[in-house]
Amino acid sequence: MLALLALAAAGCAHNAPLDTLRPASPISREIKNLWDLVFYMAVVVFVIVEGLIVVLLFRFRQRKGDTSMPKQTHGNTRLEFGWTVLPAVILASLAIPTVLTIFALAREPAGALHVNVRAQQWWWRYDYPGTGVVTANELHIPAGRKVVLSLRSKDIIHSWWAPRLAGKQDVVPGWTNHLTIEASEPGTYLGQCVEYCGLSHANMRLKVIAQTPADFQAWLTAQAKPLTEPAAPDAAAGKKVFLAQACTGCHTIRGTAAQGDVGPDLTHFASRTGFAGDIFDRNDHNLRLWLTDAPAEKPGSKMPAGVAELGLTQKDITVLIAFLQSLR
Ligand code: CUA
Repeated sequence: MLALLALAAAGCAHNAPLDTLRPASPISREIKNLWDLVFYMAVVVFVIVEGLIVVLLFRFRQRKGDTSMPKQTHGNTRLEFGWTVLPAVILASLAIPTVLTIFALAREPAGALHVNVRAQQWWWRYDYPGTGVVTANELHIPAGRKVVLSLRSKDIIHSWWAPRLAGKQDVVPGWTNHLTIEASEPGTYLGQCVEYCGLSHANMRLKVIAQTPADFQAWLTAQAKPLTEPAAPDAAAGKKVFLAQACTGCHTIRGTAAQGDVGPDLTHFASRTGFAGDIFDRNDHNLRLWLTDAPAEKPGSKMPAGVAELGLTQKDITVLIAFLQSLR
């Protein structure tokens, strides 16, 4: 009983950011409603079946001194008819709302915002068609509006899931899948890759930042701009190091010679709250860990070890951090 109690208690979190049962959009509310229906019907069936088993075990148990065989019966048309029809009715009453919900959620909504999502080991790339805006891991959306994600994979199968906003959707190479999401209220909603995709699968997180339509427009306009030249001397020195290093082969900073597509677009890096598959909060300390030895922080990372492989000095790293933190 104690072990069961501990298990039950472990299932309760006062702040569960990945809780699909705390829906934050009409889409996830529909899924939750379906879940409620299935769950409570299952509870009723469970209580009746288990209750009957307990009653029968107790009533027809072997009593002391009674060695006679119980009365043997074979076949009971009425009972057999009942336990065939009743489950069929129960399953149909689950199947109909399930199928209706699946079709309703798969319908492409009118007036939606479209965003392309590209999955790769181990981060998410987002681009907003027709705007030139490219970002990573953190998806900005306007609250109260449906957003259709077109999901593609660059390498293997991943799965995109922000539990409070929508169901999960596999992201498969060579194929485009679609998922409609929405956030009713502005806020930050966490998510995670939910298809095992190698060493750093657990380090492939994501964030959806829902903003008021005006804030979202302002964000989009700011993100569309190319690099603004860093004014501070440290940041300017960092830019020189960045452009002289192998960084440019993998990362893009719009408005510079860095046009790589292996790692995230860094043009507005400092407008994000996190980095590296969103496992880190963006601050100087974490950036130093990352630039010193990325594969030690995120196993399998394509970002090389800064000190051991790229030959960066601590001075280089200091100015690189200043540069990255200036990319607002
Ligand atoms: Cu990508 Cu798991």
